[in-house]
Amino acid sequence: MKPTKVIIDCDPGHDDAIALLMAHRMPEVDLIGVTTVCGNAPLERTTANCLRIMELLGATGVPVAAGCVTPLGRPLVLGTADGPSGLDGSPYLPEPTMELQKEHGVDFLARLLREAEEPVVLVPTGPLTNIGMLLLKYPDVRAKIARIVLMGGAFYRRDEYITPTEFNIFCDPEAAAIVVESGLDITMVGLDVTMKVLVEEPQFEAIGAIGTDLSKIVLDWLRYYEKLHRGQMGVGGALHDPLALAVAIDPTLIETRNAFVQIDRTGTHTFGATVADYWNLEGQPDNVKVASKVDADRFFEMLYTSLR
Ligand code: BDR
Ligand code: CA
Repeated sequence: MKPTKVIIDCDPGHDDAIALLMAHRMPEVDLIGVTTVCGNAPLERTTANCLRIMELLGATGVPVAAGCVTPLGRPLVLGTADGPSGLDGSPYLPEPTMELQKEHGVDFLARLLREAEEPVVLVPTGPLTNIGMLLLKYPDVRAKIARIVLMGGAFYRRDEYITPTEFNIFCDPEAAAIVVESGLDITMVGLDVTMKVLVEEPQFEAIGAIGTDLSKIVLDWLRYYEKLHRGQMGVGGALHDPLALAVAIDPTLIETRNAFVQIDRTGTHTFGATVADYWNLEGQPDNVKVASKVDADRFFEMLYTSLR
């Protein structure tokens, strides 16, 4: 089968790094470009991290462009899940030799999409600033977006309520609103589902057994990331962003529920919350496929295969 053309918009971030790794190494993916955005760290840092990851992966042929420096309508509040550098605990990353694209990330995205022969899948794994801006600035490229599979949101479920907000949406809720209200084909892979895809001892063992140079580096990253997570949330490291990438390639990894989703931009304790109207109380058409369940074992098999 022909590989799926994908663009990743990211803010690396350990889990963003694993998403880039899988996208580069999976034969099912044709990674045609990468853009960076502020989020886990300032833009300068997420971009430097991205270039170093691409260098490590030998993915220097994939063009990378830097996007927005701040969210659309508010100052940047940095993420805390990856340490101040956005990629703490990664001593082996080489200095990049590849050059950053000269264009701004949003213009670069528009150009790549316009030049694409067929519609492309967008996988945003950071705040949605670049994608929101893209849709505002270049509405014509909508026709070239096959679908958007994004890591973002946290959806209420009866048995569990982790937190009302998730970082990528909280960081730029205005951009998130533009994206979910765009009428495009949107899948949201939210925190309530990504927190089921945890790296803990059994996964460390499986990755350790692969024994390649790359898998050893990944093991170190993930051990660091797991420790950070456990300290903050009491559970292992959630592979949020790689799950979104995997779902972009194999939608059967998750179950979804269609809903009309809105972004809370006025709440005090729920600011940035993703509110899904599953019962259609508002009588609005569904705008998002909300991930509701995941086959974590199958996801990890995909990860291990990409490391072999
Ligand atoms: C999201 O926030 C970031 O820390 C991760 O990279 C992921 O994209 C999870 O809330
Ligand atoms: Ca991210």
